[in-house]
Order: sequence, then C-alpha cells, then structure tokens
Amino acid sequence: MNKNCAIILAAGEGKRMASNKPKVLCEVLFKPMLGWVIDACKNSKINDRCVVAGFKSEQVIDFVGDSAQIVLQNERKGTAHAVKCAKSFLEQHMDGNVFVCCGDSPFLDDETIMTALDIHNESEAAVTVITANIENPYGYGRIVRKDGKMLAIVEEKDAKEDEKNICEINSGAYWFCVKDLLEILDDIKPLNNQNEYYLTDAIKLFISRGKTVSAYLSKNSLIALGANDKLNLFKLNDIYRKVLIEKFMDDGVEFLSLDGIVISPDVVIGRGTQILPGTILRGNTVIGEDCIIGPNSLIEDSVVGDGSVINFTQVYQSKIDHNVKIGPFCHIRPNSTICHSVKIGDFVEVKNSEIGAGTSVSHLTYVGDSDVGKNVNFGCGVVTINYDGVNKHRCKIEDGAFIGCNTNLVAPVVVGKNAYTGAGSTITKDVPSYALGIERGKQCNVGGFSKKKLSGRKLKVKD
Ligand code: UD1
Ligand code: CA
Repeated sequence: MNKNCAIILAAGEGKRMASNKPKVLCEVLFKPMLGWVIDACKNSKINDRCVVAGFKSEQVIDFVGDSAQIVLQNERKGTAHAVKCAKSFLEQHMDGNVFVCCGDSPFLDDETIMTALDIHNESEAAVTVITANIENPYGYGRIVRKDGKMLAIVEEKDAKEDEKNICEINSGAYWFCVKDLLEILDDIKPLNNQNEYYLTDAIKLFISRGKTVSAYLSKNSLIALGANDKLNLFKLNDIYRKVLIEKFMDDGVEFLSLDGIVISPDVVIGRGTQILPGTILRGNTVIGEDCIIGPNSLIEDSVVGDGSVINFTQVYQSKIDHNVKIGPFCHIRPNSTICHSVKIGDFVEVKNSEIGAGTSVSHLTYVGDSDVGKNVNFGCGVVTINYDGVNKHRCKIEDGAFIGCNTNLVAPVVVGKNAYTGAGSTITKDVPSYALGIERGKQCNVGGFSKKKLSGRKLKVKD
C-alpha cells in the first residue's frame, strides 16, 4: 500500500493578484496553478491528497472536485496553521510521509517530487526541503546553512542583511515524516514579524530535538517560481510557454515562429505537425501527426487526426478525423464530429453535428444539430434552421445528397440518399432518396421594365 499523502496549501487570498478568484485558481497557460500542482502529485503517485481551502473556498472546492479531499482554514494564520487544519487527514497516514506544497507554485514536477522522496527516505529525515538556487531570491524563504548543513529557513520579512544575500531558497515544498510533523505542529509559535505560524519553523524545531533535516537542491530552478501578482503571472506564462514549446520541438513538432503561440501543458501533438503563428491549443487537446494548425487558430478540448489542416479557425470540444481541411474563418462548436476527408471552407459554422466522410461544406454555411452522411455536397449559403424560438430540432442529410446553394433546411427534416434540393429552396418536408426537393416561386420576366420605370431619365447604360 502507498502510505504517502499530500497536503496542498491553497487557502490564501493573494491580495496583490487583484483577482476575483483565489490566487491558486489564476491560470498559467490556461490551467489554474492549483491544477498543475494536483497533477504533479498525481504523476508522483500520491493518491491521497488533501487541499486546504479558505479564501473563496467554494471556487476551490468546485475546481478540485474528486481529485482531492478538502479541509477548510477559516482564518489565514500562516502555512503551519494551514497544515494543522489537516491534522485529522495526517492522523490517517501515521506510518507514512506527507508531501506538503503550495498551490501557487505550478512548476514543481513529478521527477523532483520523487527524487526528493528517495533522499528523504535514505536520510531518514524528519523533513526534506526542496530548494533551488535562483538569481533574484527576493520574497522567498532563504536556506541558512553552516558547513553545508541546513540550520533554518528565514523568511524575507525576518531576514538579516547577510541572510538576504542567500540565493538558495525554499520552494515551499517538503516531504515530512507524518509522525514527526504531528509532534511539533503545536509547538510552532507566531513569533515573527508577520505574527504568522510558519511551517518553515519546523526546521529549527526538528534540529533542536535532535532530528535529522535534509534539503534537496533541485537542478531545475523553475520549480520554485510562484506568482503573487499579475506581472509574476505573466512571467510564469512567458517562461513556461517557451519551455513547453521547446519540449514539443524535441518531439518533432515544427514551429516557424513563436509569435502568438500558446499551448497548454496537457496538449499532445504528433511529430511532423506544423504550428503556425497565432495558434492557441488548450485543455485536453490531442493533435495528430503531419497536421498544419494555424495561423490564428484556437483549439480547445478537441481531437484532430493525422494530416488535417486547421486554418484561421476555432474548434471547441469536438472531434476532427484525419485528412480534414477546415478554414479559413470557421467555427466548430461543441459536440461536433467531422469525419475523415471532409472539406469545410470559409465562413462555415458547425454545431452539435456529425459530418460524414468526404462531405464538402465549402462556403458560408451553418450546420447545426444535424446528422450529415458521407459525400454530401453543400452549396454556398446553406442554413439548417434548427431553432424555432422554443425548441431545437435536428436535420438529417443522407449519403450523397446535394444541397443546392441558399437552401434553408427547416428542422426536423430529412433529405434522403442521393437527393437534391433546388437552389434557394426552403425545405420544410422530407425529400425522399433520389428526389429533387424544390420550393420557389416560378420566375416571370416583365419586358422593358426599366425603360418604363425610368422614363424621362437617362438610362445608366445606353443601348
Ligand atoms: C512560503 C514559504 C517560503 C517559500 C515560499 C515559496 C512560509 C512561512 N514561507 O512563503 O519560505 O519560499 O512559500 O513559494 O511557509 N496558505 C494557506 N494558509 C495560510 C497561508 C498560506 O493556505 O494561512 C497557502 C497560500 O494559499 C499559498 C501557500 O500557502 O498557496 C504559500 O503561502 P504564501 O503566503 O504565498 O507564502 P510565501 O510568503 O510565498
Ligand atoms: Ca507564495
């Protein structure tokens, strides 16, 4: 059994962030910082997780869902106080270790967490602090060492001048032996310039009681980066955007320029795919191999198959098969399935519809709440009329149908296999297979009309 567990501190308000949501829900690359931290714990196989929520806790609870237990810290009295709020959670893990970390430091990775655990176990320490060397340590707790041994962590606001020059900082993430942590938690006192219960005071207490403390200096200095205001948040986005794009390059994804390209951490992209400027890929999006995505496209929580081209288009919660061409200027709205070899041209909107293989929807068309078969041809300007102001209805267009330009299909309606609709028709009744559905007034020509109408005035063009 895995006896280890995690406590994620996420009760703070983050006043300087000036946000309507708690700081831990502010996003880096479209993913809330708390989400990064929970996923790092998951990837480290820490299955028992507890999030300490406080400020606007409803939002935190909502986001966390069933990915962790929640305990509430009703008053923010410091990081040690926050951990104390999870005392009964800790008591359920007496024989194990607890990973304590901050919900506002998104870049802690599973490799670092697991290496730190190995060191923690080998050294039989009461605590192992994950530290990093950074150029500008302002604001972080500093690791005070003597003869290489860690003696204490000193917070910025309590640091003496020489301590402020220390560049090794506390990442805010630690492995504690649960038993040892529970023994000292009540002895941490708020005797500092912020009158807060500092979890970092655990180091001094352990040392005074003859316990072993250890520090793991991570090679990756990014792990410690956190955000306290919008400028910090921007910097985190900027730094990690490039880190992620370089990882994609290592996997064979091509970028001609990084301009305006933002890719979320959970996106997967196949080799040989080209990402063009102005492209945003986010959520759980999976892009196949040898695709061309962009310029100026946004794809969210969608799957795109191999060899597809998405140009100047937005796609949400949809599935696009292989060898599909979409764009420019298209909007694929949620719950759409675009089968292979479909062509969707300029100014087309698709919503909650399936478009069968080989179908062509080339220009200025709206397909909503529709089931479209294979090898259907849509002329320019077709509209499915799915909403009567009260209810939504579906259209069914069967394999091989030919929908004439400017056809209105008033749902619910079926256009049968290989059937035609006449250009400009408003189709309200089902069209049987192989039939032509046509609905428009007979044309009549009024001879010499303009000559009479404009009599006495100059005609624009003479005979
Ligand atoms: C903390 C560490 C500091 C470390 C830094 C790393 C302490 C005393 N200091 O400082 O050494 O370098 O993190 O980022 O621990 N929180 C609660 N309840 C509280 C207070 C905080 O849940 O009462 C949560 C916050 O939401 C946040 C995390 O704990 O996610 C850290 O709190 P914060 O106030 O940002 O601590 P720092 O000053 O950054
Ligand atoms: Ca912080």
